[in-house]
Amino acid sequence: MGKISIGVLGATGMVGQTIVSLLNGHPWFELTEVAASERSAGKSYGEAMSDKWVIGSEMPDSVKGMKIKACKPSLDCEIVLSALDSAVAHGIEEDFAKAGYAVSSNAKNHRMEADVPLLIPEINADHLGLIERQRKRRGGKGFIVTDPNCSTIGMCIALKPLQDAFGIEQVMVTTMQAVSGAGYPGVSSLDIVDNVIPYISGEEEKMETETLKILGKLSEGRIADARIRVSASCNRVGVKYGHTECVSVKLSRKAELKELVGSLESFNPIKKLVLPSEPGHPIIVTKDEARPQPRYDSNHGKGMSTVVGRIRPCSVLDYKFVVLSHNTIRGAAGAAILNAELLKAKGYLGQ
Ligand SMILES: NC(=O)c1ccc[n+]([C@@H]2O[C@H](COP(=O)([O-])OP(=O)(O)OC[C@H]3O[C@@H](n4cnc5c(N)ncnc54)[C@H](OP(=O)(O)O)[C@@H]3O)[C@@H](O)[C@H]2O)c1
Repeated sequence: MGKISIGVLGATGMVGQTIVSLLNGHPWFELTEVAASERSAGKSYGEAMSDKWVIGSEMPDSVKGMKIKACKPSLDCEIVLSALDSAVAHGIEEDFAKAGYAVSSNAKNHRMEADVPLLIPEINADHLGLIERQRKRRGGKGFIVTDPNCSTIGMCIALKPLQDAFGIEQVMVTTMQAVSGAGYPGVSSLDIVDNVIPYISGEEEKMETETLKILGKLSEGRIADARIRVSASCNRVGVKYGHTECVSVKLSRKAELKELVGSLESFNPIKKLVLPSEPGHPIIVTKDEARPQPRYDSNHGKGMSTVVGRIRPCSVLDYKFVVLSHNTIRGAAGAAILNAELLKAKGYLGQ
């Protein structure tokens, strides 16, 4: 069977260009369309991106000559990965789903809708069951799946094995989030150099609500939220890539430190699906007391592994630890691609 044709909405942004880069040479998908705003439409990708390609890797030759299109549902592809600004994502993604496309989105707009999966394949692949309900509502074969907020993804990956093994009652998290999380050009250098900004609009609410849906259970076509209390404090720091999070948890049953570490190290629930972007080790536990650090540890598993370190007892809740996750790869571009791979593996694409 040939490759599945894929388009990228918002292909000129921080996340969009990361998707374009990650799709280069993908074994299952072929990039056939790049789309963005009217400001970019009509230009070649190479021309439009001459001063906007800011990620470390080279721009793939195959995309340089591609013409950027407007985000209208007449693109030549079966699935679109959306990296659209949330100010415009809602209606555009809806239009694509109505027109019969599969949509895998990074934007916040549809995440909390009752029939839209908020997916992390290692955690809740069964939430794909919501798609049939969504298709019935729309009356066609199109649908939307979403990936979570970039700081929520890493934390939830670290929480899932603890939830399964011991139960979780409470979570306190303080984040130190990279500037690339704000898109390009993002936060001005005068604001962030030599500084910490203790506010990211909407971020704490996303961590506190999305976590409950992600870790919730699908039953009779609905998600019952996980019964966990989450309190998040989010900060922007002068780091380029990688969100670092200090997490404390209260468990439902007592756990020995060794058991807790073992549950994190052995977490690999979807290895049988052999998805191309799945890192093999979704969680890497570091025993080095001074790690994880974003400069050295963000790129493990090609940016798809979550690194957990400094696991120790907490004198207020039960245990505390540090989580590091690459925000534009595991937290966005790689997550949307992994979700598309899950859709293919589960028969929602290529029919
Ligand atoms: N950065 C991260 O780490 C991260 C992580 C998780 C989720 N997200 C989410 O992912 C999405 C993209 O984030 P980003 O950081 O890549 O943002 P960005 O760099 O600002 O890129 C935004 C993209 O949206 C396009 N766009 C803007 N207005 C449009 C319109 N009216 N019609 C069509 N396209 C339009 C832009 O096209 P032009 O270039 O033509 O203006 C650009 O391609 C956002 O929803 C964000 O919240 C980001």
